[in-house]
Amino acid sequence: MQEKLEEIKQRCLKQIENAVDEKTIEEVKVNFLGKKGELTLILKEVGGLSPEQRPIIGKVVNEIREEIEKKLQKKKNDIEKENILKQLENAEKFDFTVPVDEKIGSLHPITIVQREIEEIFKSMGFTVEEGSEVETEYNNFEAVNVPKYHPARDMQDTFWLENGQLLKTQTSAAQNKIMKKYGAPLKAIFPGRCFRNEDLDASHENTFFQLEGMMIDKNISVANLIFFMKNMLSQIFDKELNVRLRPGYFPFVEPGFELDISCMYCGGTGCKVCKNSGWIELCPCGLIHPKVLEMGGIDSEEYSGFAFGLGLSRLAMMKYGITDLRLLNSGDLRILKQIKTN
Ligand code: DAH
Repeated sequence: MQEKLEEIKQRCLKQIENAVDEKTIEEVKVNFLGKKGELTLILKEVGGLSPEQRPIIGKVVNEIREEIEKKLQKKKNDIEKENILKQLENAEKFDFTVPVDEKIGSLHPITIVQREIEEIFKSMGFTVEEGSEVETEYNNFEAVNVPKYHPARDMQDTFWLENGQLLKTQTSAAQNKIMKKYGAPLKAIFPGRCFRNEDLDASHENTFFQLEGMMIDKNISVANLIFFMKNMLSQIFDKELNVRLRPGYFPFVEPGFELDISCMYCGGTGCKVCKNSGWIELCPCGLIHPKVLEMGGIDSEEYSGFAFGLGLSRLAMMKYGITDLRLLNSGDLRILKQIKTN
C-alpha cells in the first residue's frame, strides 16, 4: 500500500512540474484529488485495512494530499507570474511614439478653412491672435463704437452673464485689446467662436465662427483693403475672383462696406447659387472709425486702417457645399465623411 501511494505521489508531482498553463493544473487536481481522483479512491481501500494499519496509512494519504495541494498552488502562482511578465514584456515593445494613423479622424471643416486663412495671412506678415469667448461689455460694444443705447446693439441678441460680462457676439470684441497690445503699425487676424441668441434655422446658429482682421499703418486706404481681400479669397477658393464693395453700415468702420465676390460656381454669368446676380455676399468690412482707433490708443491723425469680419462658418459651408449651418455644430460624423476633408 505504501509503495502504491508513493508511486501515485511521484506521478502526480511530475505532472505538476510539467504543467504549462492553468488549465493543465486544474486537470491534474481533478485527476488526483477530485471526487473520482486517484487519491480519493484509494481512501476507500484504507477502510479495508487492519485496525492498526488504518490510522497509519490514513495519515500518509492526508500528508500526500496536503503536499500535492501545496505544490499545485505554487505552480499556479508561478504560471500566473510568468504570464504577467510576458504581458509586460509585450507592453514594452509597444511604441507610444509611433504617430497616429491620420485616417482615423479628420479635421472639422471650420478648422481646415481657419488654418488655410491663417497660413495665407501669415504669409502676408499678419500675426494670428486669440480672443477670449467671455468678454466685457466695453470690449464687445463700447470700444467698437457701439455705446449703451445705440440701435446697433439690437442686432446682436446677447447672452449676458450674471457678473455683467457676456459671451462675445463678434470677433470685433478683440480689436481694442489687440490695438493696445501692439500699437501701430499692426497687422493681425483673430479667429474665434461667437454667440448670439438666434432663432435657429439653416443659416442661423447661436454658436458660430468668425475671423476678423485688422491692418493699421500710415496711409491705409480702401485700395489696400481690396488688394488683401481679393488675394486671400482667390487663394481660399483656388481661383481668380473679382470683388466688389457695396455700402454697408457698421458703427466701427467709416466708410463701411459689404464685400461681394464674383460667383465661384458660374464665374459671374449668373446661376442658382448667386440668384442670377453673378455675385455672392461674403464679408463686411471698412476703414476703421477714428474713434475706434483713438479708444485703442492709436493716433487717428497719423494712422488709418481697414478691418473685416469674415463669417468663417459661412465660408466653410460655401467651400464644402454644406447647406445647413446647424450641421457644423451637430457632431454628426456623417458630414465629415461626406466632405472628405483630408
Ligand atoms: N462684427 C461684425 C458682425 O459681426 C462684422 C464686421 C463688420 C467686422 C465690419 C468688421 C467690419 O471688422 O469692419 O456683424
